[in-house]
Amino acid sequence: MKKFLRSALVAAFAFACATTVFAEGGWNEGGGEKDEAMLLTPDRGRGIAVYEVCAACHLLEGWGLPDGTFPQLAGQHRNVLIKQLADIRAQNRDNPTMYPFALDEQIMAVSGFKHGEINPAQLVADVTAYIATLPMNPEHGKGPFAPGTPEFEKGKKLYADNCVKCHSEDGFGDGEKFFPKIQGQHYNYMMRQFEWIRDGKRRNANPDMVAQIKNFTDDDMKMVINYVTHAPVRKEFLAPSKDYRNPDFD
Ligand code: HEC
Ligand code: HEC
Repeated sequence: MKKFLRSALVAAFAFACATTVFAEGGWNEGGGEKDEAMLLTPDRGRGIAVYEVCAACHLLEGWGLPDGTFPQLAGQHRNVLIKQLADIRAQNRDNPTMYPFALDEQIMAVSGFKHGEINPAQLVADVTAYIATLPMNPEHGKGPFAPGTPEFEKGKKLYADNCVKCHSEDGFGDGEKFFPKIQGQHYNYMMRQFEWIRDGKRRNANPDMVAQIKNFTDDDMKMVINYVTHAPVRKEFLAPSKDYRNPDFD
């Protein structure tokens, strides 16, 4: 009886794993650091301490750069930040520039901990909670086609037909579902990510998005991303001006 129960459990577990893999294709599997960090209570002071290492590239304001080398992180949904950071740390999303800085040793050293003194997932919880509260860049990098141009209008239509169901009407996304906020993100960064997602280079990409955009030409991509960059960023998430400086690093 016991033996039977155990093999039934093993079978049920194997089935659960198989369905997860097929349904999500390695995009958002359960378990691991992401789930752990989501359950931990974040500490703002430690979040600020860890963020210092991130600011070297993403800047103290979390605004990244309009040339697209570094994405804006400020104002991103916390679940998205946790998933992306955990994926980068686990090398499920390639980011050779950032990877060495996101390792346990780095995030522990900068916040004053040695190995064994803190669970690194706790620091992931701390820094992502902090970043999500940063006000966003009011002058992010926009695409070249102004509202009213044929390219803008075509991008608007492509967006309505292919993106709204996940990234929402104005690019706000959905944190609960790990759909990134793309309003306010830099044009050049999004062009690179969109292309990598379409061409299968971003390994943690959502398979449904990959399927949705597989027939996009490079011109379609330009027009649809252009449209997103002109979507107004929700006011409550914006910094008061482009001269705003993060007061936590005075
Ligand atoms: C040496 C530079 C560098 C450092 C330091 C760095 N990053 Fe990054 N980060 C990058 C680059 C470059 C990308 C974009 C990579 C790409 O194009 O795929 C990125 C992407 C990200 C993303 C994904 C954003 C998105 O929209 O999907 C997150 C989240 C992130 N970084 C968080 C952090 C955190 C948290 C830290 C500090 C612990 C950090 N980064 C430190 C360079 C850096
Ligand atoms: C089925 C849902 C879905 C659809 C449809 C979809 N996306 Fe996405 N998109 C996602 C998810 C989920 C991610 C994050 C993937 C991950 O976890 O790495 C993402 C990531 C992105 C990114 C990278 C964001 C970043 O911060 O790195 C961009 C840009 C993007 N999508 C644009 C679009 C555009 C434009 C369309 C329409 C042409 C679209 N997406 C359609 C779900 C979707």
